[in-house]
This record gives sequence, C-alpha cells and structure tokens, in this order.
Amino acid sequence: MKKYQKDDHLIYFGDALGVLHEKISDSSVDLIFVDPPYNIGKKFSNFKDRWPSDEDYAEWCYKWIDECIRVLKPCGTMYLMTSTQAMPYFDLYVRKKLTILSRIVWSYDSSGVQAKKYFGSMYEPLLHCVKNSKKYTFNHDDIKVEAKTGAKRKLIDYRGGVPKPYNTTKVPGNVWDFPRVRYRMDEYEEHPSQKPQSLLERIIRASSNEGDTVLDPFSGTFTAAAVAKSLGRKTISIESQEEYLKIGLRRVLEYEEYRGEVLRKPQKNTKIKNGRSKKEERHEEITEGLFNVNS
Ligand SMILES: C[S@@+](CC[C@H](N)C(=O)[O-])C[C@H]1O[C@@H](n2cnc3c(N)ncnc32)[C@H](O)[C@@H]1O
Repeated sequence: MKKYQKDDHLIYFGDALGVLHEKISDSSVDLIFVDPPYNIGKKFSNFKDRWPSDEDYAEWCYKWIDECIRVLKPCGTMYLMTSTQAMPYFDLYVRKKLTILSRIVWSYDSSGVQAKKYFGSMYEPLLHCVKNSKKYTFNHDDIKVEAKTGAKRKLIDYRGGVPKPYNTTKVPGNVWDFPRVRYRMDEYEEHPSQKPQSLLERIIRASSNEGDTVLDPFSGTFTAAAVAKSLGRKTISIESQEEYLKIGLRRVLEYEEYRGEVLRKPQKNTKIKNGRSKKEERHEEITEGLFNVNS
C-alpha cells in the first residue's frame, strides 16, 4: 500500500480492507461514502467484479462494513451503495449495527440499451445510516430543492386558518433524480462506474460540515473526494487500481505527473459520426451494462 497526501487530503493506493484495518483509527471519520464493486461482472482496470456466489460477496462486504463502523465517529454517518440484488444482504446486516434513516433510490433515465423481456433496472439503491439516531449531522437547509407545487404551479394552501402559498423549496425525499455521468459532460472520467458530482454534493452537504473528514474506501474516479474538497471538507480515499489512482492524484491532489506520465483530463474524441463519437459509444456500452443485470 502507498500513501499520497496534500494538505488535508489523503489517498491510499491499496486494498480497502487492509488500509481501513491498518491505517484508519477508531472513531475518526465524520462521513463515509461507500460505493464498492457490485458483484455484477464489471471490469475495473485489472479487477474483475465477480465473486463465486452472492454469499461470498456478502461475506467480503461484511468485513469492510465492520471496519467502516469502527472508524466512524459516534455521531457519524455512512452511505452505502451496492446493486439492487445485493442490497438486501447489506440492509439485513447493517440494520443490526446502525440506524438506517433512509433507503434512497437514485433514479436515472436511459435511452440506450433497453431490456425487452423485463423491466430494466433504472435505479441504484443507497442506505443512509447513522451510529446515533439522536445525534447526527443533517443540514436540511443546505440541500433544499424546488417544490413544484409552490414554485411552478403557484397553488394556495387553504388547509390552515389563513390561506397561504405553498413553499417554493423543500427538503428532498428519498427518490433522487440525477443524470448519470455521460461522455460529453465536463466531469466525465474514464471509468465504468463514475458517480455524478450532483449525487455526492447532496450527500456531503447534508451529512457533514466544513472541516469534517469524509472517507471513500472505493474511490474509482474520486468523485467523493473532489466534491468534498470543493466544499471545504478533509478527505481520505482508497483505491486499488493504479489507472484510477492517477485520476485521484490529478483530481484531488492536483498532481501534474505520476512516474513520468503527464496526468491529464480525458482527451475526448471530437470526430463525430452520426452525432456520436466512437469513444462516446464505447462509454455508453460499458455503463449501460448495469441496466440489464437481473441475476
Ligand atoms: C463502483 S467503483 C467506485 C466509483 C466511484 N464512486 C466513482 O464515483 O468513480 C468501485 C471501485 O473500487 C475499486 N476497488 C475494487 N476492489 C477494491 C479493493 N479491494 N480496495 C480498494 N478499491 C477497490 C475499483 O477499482 C473501482 O474503481
């Protein structure tokens, strides 16, 4: 394992379980965002996301979930993601150890590959959990969204003694609509499972404060750390694949070079045929894979 650091931002290049166990102290982290491999057969550089059975996958996850719980502060929060089919294992395990405040659905649209024989999966689930259900951070004012009834339809609420307009903003519920990261978006990185900045922004704003420490044990493109840094949080990231470590070094620690290689944002193919470039099509193929998994 190797450690890289700049100011309040730390990156470990290594195995999440080992790093958590050896390097992260008890009760030291305010917010953990965990987006592990989902056991759906994606290829993460040299890592193949497939365990021999669902039970084997769950057993592996339980180990790092326990480590995450250990490093979480008593008033800390953890968000856990996995595939729809694996989430029941997480839910049943975690609810014995933490309070699950919300079961969130991140929903998105796709007009690419579509299931024709069943209802294709168009969402990913998240658990929002805390150690202490009486004392935890939730900055509801920082994540308000437009309330359509009030803001768009301008309806009047006649239910009280005095009629008044509906609120124009509200705290979001547990179904979150955020577009997935597409090739043409500025935030795009070369990775098969990049999470959007908008999703992380809501999580980090809601469940941490400036100066808090945010941990992401499976960093991928380091979206969590990049957003957390932009919001004045400290970060700890772990990633096992060198190809993605380089994204973190550039995106979070602002390295310009790694072992003699110049680190750059993805060079996008601008040669467009039928409205889409080859690279864009390839990216859609890889990421759409998630839609048609029902094993
Ligand atoms: C679902 S992706 C995370 C995507 C990330 N949230 C983002 O927004 O880009 C999971 C990541 O975990 C990494 N990974 C797989 N096994 C790992 C391990 N044992 N320790 C650390 N990272 C691992 C993969 O290389 C992959 O980048």
